[in-house]
Parts: sequence; C-alpha cells; structure tokens
Amino acid sequence: MIRAALAGIVGVWLVAHAHAAAAADNSLIDAWRAVRVADCARCHGKDHEGLAAPSIVGFARTQSRERFIAAILDGNPPLGMPAYRGNALIENHIDAIYRYFAARADGSIAAGAVPARESDESADAPTLKQRAITPGANGG
Ligand code: HEC
Repeated sequence: MIRAALAGIVGVWLVAHAHAAAAADNSLIDAWRAVRVADCARCHGKDHEGLAAPSIVGFARTQSRERFIAAILDGNPPLGMPAYRGNALIENHIDAIYRYFAARADGSIAAGAVPARESDESADAPTLKQRAITPGANGG
C-alpha cells in the first residue's frame, strides 16, 4: 500500500499525495533530506544508483547494516569516498540513512520518491527536490 502510494508520487509529487501515504516514518524523511543536503548524488548519481561512485542502493542490498554505516562514517578517502564521521548532519541520521537505502533496495521506497510524512512538514521537500534537479534555482 505504501509502495503503491510512493510509486504514484514519483512523477507527480508529493504535496497532493503526501497525506495519502499514511504510516509515515519521519526519521526517513530526515535521512532523505540529509542525504540531499550532503549531496551524495554528486558522486553516486541522481538516484544514488551509481555514477562516478558505486550504487548506494546496491550496497545496502548486499551489505550488513554495520558495514553500510562504516562505509559512510569511515569513508575511503584514498578512493574518493569522504569520511562522514563528525559530520553531524550525516552522523545524527546514520541509522535512518541505512533504513532509507535498505527500503530503496527492497523497493518499498521508489527512486526519486520522498518517504511519506504524517505531519505537514513535507511542504519544504519539493524545494529540496527542485534544487537537486535544477542547481541554479536556489533561493526558492
Ligand atoms: C566526492 C564523491 C563522493 C561523495 C560526495 C560521496 N561518496 Fe560515497 N563513495 C564515493 C566513492 C568514489 C566510493 C567508492 C569507494 C571505494 O571504492 O571503496 C564511495 C563509496 C560509498 C559507499 C560504499 C559503496 C561500495 O560499493 O563500496 C557508500 C555506502 C557510500 N559511498 C555512501 C555515501 C553517502 C551516503 C554519501 C553522502 C552522505 C556519499 N557516499 C558521498 C564517492 C563519494
């Protein structure tokens, strides 16, 4: 049910649909937002499915939670993956970031979809999304 609701949002977007997708997990929204702000997509591709750097979704599919979290907090600077330990934005949301990518990996959150939120704070999510699509459109 959530899957269907989220799949429906992908193109049309969330303002109208966010409320319909009940059973929200607000921490996943925060994780999604942190990943957007940190701009992991710059190296890992638009939907984090691989670009210059490998797919984060694929990694979450095959690795344990511990390895996933270590890969982000420890990074691999010689190979170009920054270490995010000490970066509060990422560190504070690391568990939810894992759960977000695990949900991407098992298909319960679609690529490009914002995890649903029960409260109304998702109103600012499209701004982040637009910024991701059109880097010039800051300010909002
Ligand atoms: C400057 C480019 C860059 C940024 C920004 C970046 N990464 Fe990476 N990331 C990489 C590279 C390159 C690798 C592959 C390192 C290696 O081969 O071990 C990697 C590897 C990873 C891996 C392990 C994947 C694997 O197959 O080994 C995870 C998980 C990951 N990154 C998550 C993230 C997350 C989450 C963010 C944002 C918070 C992020 N990365 C930001 C470049 C980046």
